[in-house]
Amino acid sequence: MPPGFRRHFVCWRPPDRERPAANEVEKTAKIDYNERNNVRTGLIEAPHGEVTFMKVLMLNGSPKPNGNTGLALKEMEKIFAAEGIEVETIVVGNKDIRGCVSCGSCGRLGRCVFDDMVNEIAPKLAECDGLVIASPVYYASANATLIACLDRLFYSNRADLSMKVGASVVVARRGGCSATYDELNKYFTISGMPVASSQYWNSVHGGVPGEASQDAEGMQTMRVLARNMAFLMKSIALGKQEYGLPEKEQHLWTNFV
Ligand SMILES: Cc1cc2nc3c(=O)[nH]c(=O)nc-3n(C[C@H](O)[C@H](O)[C@H](O)COP(=O)(O)O)c2cc1C
Repeated sequence: MPPGFRRHFVCWRPPDRERPAANEVEKTAKIDYNERNNVRTGLIEAPHGEVTFMKVLMLNGSPKPNGNTGLALKEMEKIFAAEGIEVETIVVGNKDIRGCVSCGSCGRLGRCVFDDMVNEIAPKLAECDGLVIASPVYYASANATLIACLDRLFYSNRADLSMKVGASVVVARRGGCSATYDELNKYFTISGMPVASSQYWNSVHGGVPGEASQDAEGMQTMRVLARNMAFLMKSIALGKQEYGLPEKEQHLWTNFV
């Protein structure tokens, strides 16, 4: 796909997959809606026929790929798969990622001076249509490795993130969820990224790995979040096609003076 293609041209085509079983009422209704509106969820077709799927990038801040945070993300993945949206999950919490040293080299290099996983994630961030940031709660805050990664990723990033949909997910045994949720959402809301929400703040509870699967409400919150995020991503793709991205102003840096 030519660089910048998605920004300029997004064409949707109606579904050619088989109709779902009659008992999948919700799905049928959605497909009927899509057919009427000539929209196929998650599929982008280029003028020359090349077809790609919309993509969600998921960053898992837990050191345990199959821990409770992983379970919450897997619940979302199922919905994205049903929506025809591609998912890439990167486990960040078990990597050796140092914090930002405020050297400013990224302004010159266009990437972080520490050439580690952060620079591998950067092009994936530039390419994705949606970003999920997930973290276990540590002392009522996000995992420190994840924060080191996000600070350097967002600070060194040169791609336009505006109108990529963001969602944060937090997992705790008992407390500190909403503080961590607020912490993670800050990366989206300073970047022009609309934030997808669910039926509750996006938290799941569990202590030992696997326990989160018992949190029925938390898992439902994840499914609803993924559906809402998919809807927002589709809607924004159509909106871009119809109206284009909002006009940009040159950023003024006033340091409160
Ligand atoms: C260093 C550390 C600090 C933690 N702090 C909290 C906390 O503040 N609140 C809480 O409810 N759970 C806390 N926990 C528990 C984890 O959030 C919980 O076990 C979570 O399910 C881990 O997710 P994971 O399996 O994806 O790693 C802490 C765990 C660790 C290792």
